[in-house]
Amino acid sequence: MASIIPFSQSQPLFKKPQQAILKKPQGQLFLSLPISQKPQQAVLKKPQGQLFLSLPISQKKARMVVVSATSTAAEKPQKRYPGEAKGFVEEMRFVAMKLHTRDQAKEGEKEPQGQPVAKWNPTIEGYLKFLVDSKLVYDTLERIVEKAAYPDYAEFRNTGLERSESLGKDLEWFKEQGHVIPEPSLPGVSYAQYLQELSEKDPQAFLCHFYNTYFAHTAGGRMIGRKVAEEILNGKELEFYKWDGDLAQLLQNVREKLNGVAESWTREEKNHCLEETEKSFKFSGDILRLILS
Ligand code: HEM
Repeated sequence: MASIIPFSQSQPLFKKPQQAILKKPQGQLFLSLPISQKPQQAVLKKPQGQLFLSLPISQKKARMVVVSATSTAAEKPQKRYPGEAKGFVEEMRFVAMKLHTRDQAKEGEKEPQGQPVAKWNPTIEGYLKFLVDSKLVYDTLERIVEKAAYPDYAEFRNTGLERSESLGKDLEWFKEQGHVIPEPSLPGVSYAQYLQELSEKDPQAFLCHFYNTYFAHTAGGRMIGRKVAEEILNGKELEFYKWDGDLAQLLQNVREKLNGVAESWTREEKNHCLEETEKSFKFSGDILRLILS
C-alpha cells in the first residue's frame, strides 16, 4: 500500500529564533538580538543553541531601533516558544499540528500524500489489524503509568482516557461476528517495545508519546473511526470511540496534569519532549496505515 500519511519527513520546527524583534513584557520594550559571546551582565537565553541578548529599551529608542549594550536590568524570562504562554500542552499541540498534512487538519503544514481519509477504502481485515496493534499500544501505555517507573507517571492513572478495556470489548464483538482476530503485527509490536524502553529512561520523551497517542485518538482518530464505521460496519460505533463522562473535561484534566508535570522541566527537557513528536507521528502513522492493508 502506498504511503498514506507523510509522517516521517523531518521539519525545521525549531529553526525560527526571533531576531531583532521588539517585545513588550511588563509594559517595557525589549530588543532581542542573537549574539556570539557572553556579555557580563546581560540575560542569556538559548533557544536553538543560539545565544540571545535581551535588553530593555525606551520607546523612543525602540522606534529608532537602536540598541544600548549597557543594560543591567533584571529581566523576566520572555515567552518565546509557540503556545508557551498557555502551558506546555499547547506547545506540544502546536508542534503536533504542524506535522499533519494540510488535508488532515487546517493547521497542518505537510504536503498531502496519498488519499485523504474521506477517500479511504478500508477493509475489515486491515481495520482489525489496526485495532489489535492499537490495543497493544494502549495496554503498554496503561501498564507503564500503572507501574510508574517515574513517580510523575502515576498522575496519569485512571484519567478516563484509557482505551485498553474498550478495545478488548470491540475485539470480542468482532470475534462474535465470526471474524478471526489477528496477532499483533510489526508496527504495534515495535511501538510497544519502544514505549516500554523509553518510559524507563526518558520520561520527557515518553510523555510526548502519551500526550500524542491519547489526544490524537480523540481528534483525528475519532474522525477516522466514523469514516471506517460508515464504510464497513454499517455505522456501528465501537467502544474505542466512547468515553465515560465528558470527554472535553477528561482531556482538560489531563492537560492540566501534563502542564503541572512539565513545570518542573528545564527548557532543554521541554525541547527534548517536543522533538519526540515526530517519532510519535511515525509510529502511530505506521499503525494507522494498517487500516488500508
Ligand atoms: C489521518 C491521520 C490524521 C488525521 C486526519 C488527523 C486529524 C486531526 C484533526 C482534524 C485534529 C483537530 C484539529 C483541531 O483541533 O482543529 C487533530 C488534532 C490532533 N492530532 Fe491529528 N490527525 C491524524 C493523525 C495524527 C497522528 C498520527 C498524531 C500523533 C500521533 C496526531 C496528533 C494530533 C494531536 C496531538 C492533536 C491535538 C488534539 C487536541 O488538541 O486535543 N494526529 N488531528
